[in-house]
Amino acid sequence: MSVCQPVSHQPTIRFDRLGPDVYGNAHPQALLQAIQEEGEALLDLANQHVISTLQYSPATLLQLFRLAAKYESNPNRYIRHNSPLRGKILINAFYEPSTRTRLSFDSAWHRLGGDTISITDRSTTGLAKGESLQDVAEMFNNYGDCVVLRDTNAEAIHAMTGSLHIPIINAGNGIDEHPTQAMADLYTIFKWRPQLVKAQVEPEQRIRIGVVGIPGRMRTVRSLLRILSKFPAAVKELVLFHEPGLDPSQDYWDPGQREELEKAGLRVSTCDDLPAAIPDLDVIYINAIAWVGDSYEVHGRSFQLTADLPYKSGAIVLHPLARGRELDTSLDRTDHNWYFSQARGAVFVRMALLTCMVERTAQVMDII
Ligand code: CP
Repeated sequence: MSVCQPVSHQPTIRFDRLGPDVYGNAHPQALLQAIQEEGEALLDLANQHVISTLQYSPATLLQLFRLAAKYESNPNRYIRHNSPLRGKILINAFYEPSTRTRLSFDSAWHRLGGDTISITDRSTTGLAKGESLQDVAEMFNNYGDCVVLRDTNAEAIHAMTGSLHIPIINAGNGIDEHPTQAMADLYTIFKWRPQLVKAQVEPEQRIRIGVVGIPGRMRTVRSLLRILSKFPAAVKELVLFHEPGLDPSQDYWDPGQREELEKAGLRVSTCDDLPAAIPDLDVIYINAIAWVGDSYEVHGRSFQLTADLPYKSGAIVLHPLARGRELDTSLDRTDHNWYFSQARGAVFVRMALLTCMVERTAQVMDII
């Protein structure tokens, strides 16, 4: 008789890791159908560095989201039957803390069949011995096919591009930009309202977006505003919230930042009364942290989103995470919680981007 006995008769819970959105509120198929396939736009991404959200045309972004929606609609197909990144190596170089960005790039690359190598601490590399960024870039050329870099120094990515022969992705450079986060943010908004991808959006379908954050200090906010400026037809109004008593003409915008958005066709306003504005907001994007140097600032301490506020019916809350008290966990079990879907969708957006950057687009464009 076997000495091994089952310790429990609990039913086994099957959980398909790659199945549909477990949060139940993001349906990529509707977005897939809303965007007509014009895959040639993706060829422009091959071997191109990803530095700023400003680089991208609306057409390229939409095709990227279409490919992301393809992946999200049927993720197992690519792992089990295709593996378009087999034989390719991603270098993940993160010199600043990260949960989502580093792991989701890792996950995206692995899901497409590639291998990854990582640096998670600058002090374990030659940089600690005074090695130049240019020499590190030369080494990256030998070891991988693509680099993802997060650095506290906003200039580091620019210092490396001159020496790199493989594409690099800006995964957050100081307080400057985080372009793939913005792609994930907009992908989430378009999954929520696929009609917003149209060149002409009916006035009653346009959305009012509230942003709680400091556009001149937070890279996620800067990149989000820039990517929204590519789709002005979707936006009725962009409302930037600041703390009562703060003068938004001081230490809030970077010079020219607001003008850049207005020139792109966005109607921009500022407001210090978030609770009063909430019933009119379709999307509320909130962030409190700005990473500066080796530490972080917390802004907007008077703002907190909780489940009991008077949200508009169907309104969604987005947050790049990590969160603090500004995003109360009471919201997690409401229909307004789209921030977990936002984090999940980032994997598929990054899968799409990486595929195109290393010239494997043709291998996945014939599959729906
Ligand atoms: N959204 C984001 O950048 O999260 P991490 O800092 O965890 O990567």
